[in-house]
Amino acid sequence: MFTLPHLKPIKPYKSIALLTSGGDSPGMNPAIRGIVRAALNSGIENVYGIQRGYSGLIAGDIQKLSSRSVTNIVQRGGTMLKSARCLEFKDPATRAKAAKILHDKGIEALIVIGGDGSMTGAHLLTEETGIPVIGLPGTIDNDIPGSDDTIGFDTAVNTALEAIDKIRDTALSHERLFLVEVMGRNSGFIATQVGIACGAELVVVPEYEFDLHDLCVALAEQRASGQGSSGIIVIAEGKDPGLTSRIAYQLEEQGQDPKICILGHIQRGGSPSGHDRMLASCLGASAVQYLLAGYNDIMVGLRQGAVIDIPLRRVISEKKTLDQNIFDITTLLHK
Ligand code: ADP
Ligand code: F6P
Repeated sequence: MFTLPHLKPIKPYKSIALLTSGGDSPGMNPAIRGIVRAALNSGIENVYGIQRGYSGLIAGDIQKLSSRSVTNIVQRGGTMLKSARCLEFKDPATRAKAAKILHDKGIEALIVIGGDGSMTGAHLLTEETGIPVIGLPGTIDNDIPGSDDTIGFDTAVNTALEAIDKIRDTALSHERLFLVEVMGRNSGFIATQVGIACGAELVVVPEYEFDLHDLCVALAEQRASGQGSSGIIVIAEGKDPGLTSRIAYQLEEQGQDPKICILGHIQRGGSPSGHDRMLASCLGASAVQYLLAGYNDIMVGLRQGAVIDIPLRRVISEKKTLDQNIFDITTLLHK
């Protein structure tokens, strides 16, 4: 159970809007539901849903939502508001246009659910135009500074684990080595948690170096001791396309016969886990409470089980680090 903040409402907002932006994540829907219902039940008269992130905002694709609009979405993956990447939003003139559209519709504040890029857009929008914004961390990557958790991470980890448990059956039956690529272009949070939880032989993440030679020695020892040569190596996709194929190639050069399995976007979809539904609902409702309490330019996140606020300036200027002690568990528990 999470600890929620006690906030006193002082700002009588009448109209707010919300959008989902960047990569979708399982739990965005319960977050939308949490925001819409908390807002309507707290005296906010008009709640608007903006379609396709910042793209829909600058296109004026904005519709009023009712409590019934968010019925039956708590269990659904994806986002009912759709998501998009909108490169024009990096231009201050586009953000000024967005502010005018919000102003013309009488919308007084905006809640943005998305990853670090979306948080950057939200921060710049309020800094330049004065529109109050609140961010919510929605990404499977769990790479947003200031928050221990992000909406969608838990579901993505469980989706990957379900797949790897199946791959492990074949790995054991055929005494094969599998390289399983998980998502994480810039960070290895998914790979680390998945690697520990599936008992991977090795985990490769963008944050730390890995030694392929050591792995080959370990695999050779494993084979020599009669344990066969099955194994799972979990690899975060990283920035350079083709990393997993290159590792496979190097392993082949050393006499191994690895099979590749790229889990890809399967990790972004699916029904949100109980944890993600709870997290998204609490963060969504809290975002409304922070707004009504007069907060602006913050992200609502989770730290040590407590819902907290973090200045967006901090969120977008720092990098979340992967704790070396946690990463070391991936090797400590192997063998
Ligand atoms: P995520 O939010 O999942 O990190 P992106 O990095 O693609 O995904 O960002 C989502 C959207 O946020 C972008 O398409 C853009 O509209 C907006 N955004 C990202 N970076 C910036 C920026 N530097 N300035 C303004 N808007 C940005
Ligand atoms: O949502 C974050 C993320 O899943 C990254 O881990 C991944 O690199 C990226 O999105 C891929 O997104 P897309 O296919 O939408 O560009």
